[in-house]
Amino acid sequence: CGIVGYAGNQTACGKPLEVCLQGLKRLEYRGYDSAGVALAAPGMEQVVVRKKAGRLANLEADLQARPLPDATVGIGHTRWATNGQPSDINSHPHLSSDGHVAIIHNGIIENANQLKTELEAEGHSFVSATDSEVAAKLLGKLAQEVMDETGEPDLCEALRRMARMLTGAFTILAVDNRQPHIVVGARHDSPLVVGLGEGENFLGSDVAAFVAYTDQAMEVGQDQAVCLSGDQVVITDFDGNPVTDSKRFTVDWDASEVEKGGWPSFMDKEIHEDPSAVADTLLGRFDAKGDIALDEVHIDEEVFRSIDKIIVVACGTASYAGMVAKYAIEHWVRIPVEVELAHEFRYRDPILTHRTLVVAISQSGETMDTLMALRHAREQGSRVLAICNTQGSSIPRESDAVLYTHAGPEIAVASTKAFLAQIVAAYMLGLYLAQVKGTMFADEIRQIVGQLKAMPAKIQWVLDHQADQVEQAARRLSGARSFLFLGRHVGYPVAMEGALKLKEIAYTFTEGFAAGELKHGPIALVEEGEPVVVIVPSSHGRDTLHNKVISGIEEVKARGAFTIAVAEEGDPDAERYADVVFWRPACPTLLSPLVDVVPLQLLAMDMAQIKGLDVDKPRNLAKSVTVE
Ligand code: G6P
Repeated sequence: CGIVGYAGNQTACGKPLEVCLQGLKRLEYRGYDSAGVALAAPGMEQVVVRKKAGRLANLEADLQARPLPDATVGIGHTRWATNGQPSDINSHPHLSSDGHVAIIHNGIIENANQLKTELEAEGHSFVSATDSEVAAKLLGKLAQEVMDETGEPDLCEALRRMARMLTGAFTILAVDNRQPHIVVGARHDSPLVVGLGEGENFLGSDVAAFVAYTDQAMEVGQDQAVCLSGDQVVITDFDGNPVTDSKRFTVDWDASEVEKGGWPSFMDKEIHEDPSAVADTLLGRFDAKGDIALDEVHIDEEVFRSIDKIIVVACGTASYAGMVAKYAIEHWVRIPVEVELAHEFRYRDPILTHRTLVVAISQSGETMDTLMALRHAREQGSRVLAICNTQGSSIPRESDAVLYTHAGPEIAVASTKAFLAQIVAAYMLGLYLAQVKGTMFADEIRQIVGQLKAMPAKIQWVLDHQADQVEQAARRLSGARSFLFLGRHVGYPVAMEGALKLKEIAYTFTEGFAAGELKHGPIALVEEGEPVVVIVPSSHGRDTLHNKVISGIEEVKARGAFTIAVAEEGDPDAERYADVVFWRPACPTLLSPLVDVVPLQLLAMDMAQIKGLDVDKPRNLAKSVTVE
């Protein structure tokens, strides 16, 4: 879910609603089952709420038809349904029984049923099927009871009191028409960031919510509450003790980066930012001699030297970046690298020591499964390094160190440019480890760095010269009911990622396989006309891997498959055996995922567009899954 809050010290005006709607537009990628806002201003009898099932556009149309009054504070919510179906009633904000307090919630309240029974016994009645409404009724009740020293209602203390009673995961924001100058918030295992303006302040699930208004931000820590007014931000723990060490930072995203800027979709724009995501993630990571200097990673070289195993934890696309990292880091650093889906990791009692480095990869920095995995790793005494794209998010905040990917904001739900940036960050980590552990000569490292720096131009070549070919293939194959993707070595994670992209946005049944596995099962799926995408390794020196993958193409083709190869420019075997070839410029095998995945991103986008689907907001998905 996406959350936004605004408090300004002007008299009642349209700004709170404008900020909430703008913020929700930026956060819609976090969920788009329904949207709603609540506003308060001096003189209002009750807090004002408007909410609608479906996309934000539904809410906007409703607000156009029936405008809301001006306000001084506001909160807004865009929902990814976990508890209760998407409907107007289940949408947020939810109201207290007396209508004075409105809340929005992200997360899952685990003791909601028990609290609900108690509240019902006291005469509160519920209209929705959500756990969140329990928080609304409970906060409304506490707000009537909790007064400050002057005898005035104290919404912030009421919220802290409620936060101590709730179990589960939550970010809750609330407004109360009797205190129309403040927005209060509390977080436990769910994201919340403050935006600092002039005479106005903001709250958001992430900085995208307010980056159009300010680039000054402040973190809100785990189990902290915030009271926001136009000219003050007060952060405390849940017991009311002031927190004075909240970290401030400047958001390095440009407001224009969260706009489509003329592109038909965010996904289209973001795929075309693949080259700059790679270039920017390499920037500033070398010293004057050309050695790798990861200054931002505050872990001693000595500690890095002692690392004897790496475990990558991640979900979805980020886990495939982790698989690429395994091939590169094991080859360069000669230490074992395991890659594990974050949600599986913690429940199998993994072997972790103080010499294990756990690398948590996450674009959003908020994926709950990954966050829980890193907490488990730290509890077991391992060090955790985050590879993350979002400043101020939970995963870097809770890690020992962070290597930021500089892909810029990624809005389309299906990850594209962030995947490339994650792979580059993982390469940098691998090369840095090789440097400090001395497993490679400085010259060898410099040579690879040089090759890495040449990758953005090669990615650009694919975008410039292969897009038409990909689109033609997409037209031809848009009716296909399923696709198979095959790859070996680093081509295997690329095949997995290509399959995931097509599944996510074109709703095509796909499977990615290790090409060597073909004959052990998947080949039974091949029938006349079945599209099979094959990532072909470099043909340099005609290495055996290349020939084996080409044999795989021959095998599926002999059984009627329609074969699409991603292959190095001029590869005669790919030309001979595949029905369609997407070419890539020559590059070292370990770096080839950076170019090979690009036509597969385009293919998924083109297929979805041809089918008339919303490429940025695929059904049932959310970009950042903040529940386990
Ligand atoms: C969700 C998204 C995926 C994404 C995964 C990990 O499932 O739909 O596209 O790859 O989360 O997200 P993260 O933000 O942790 O990289």
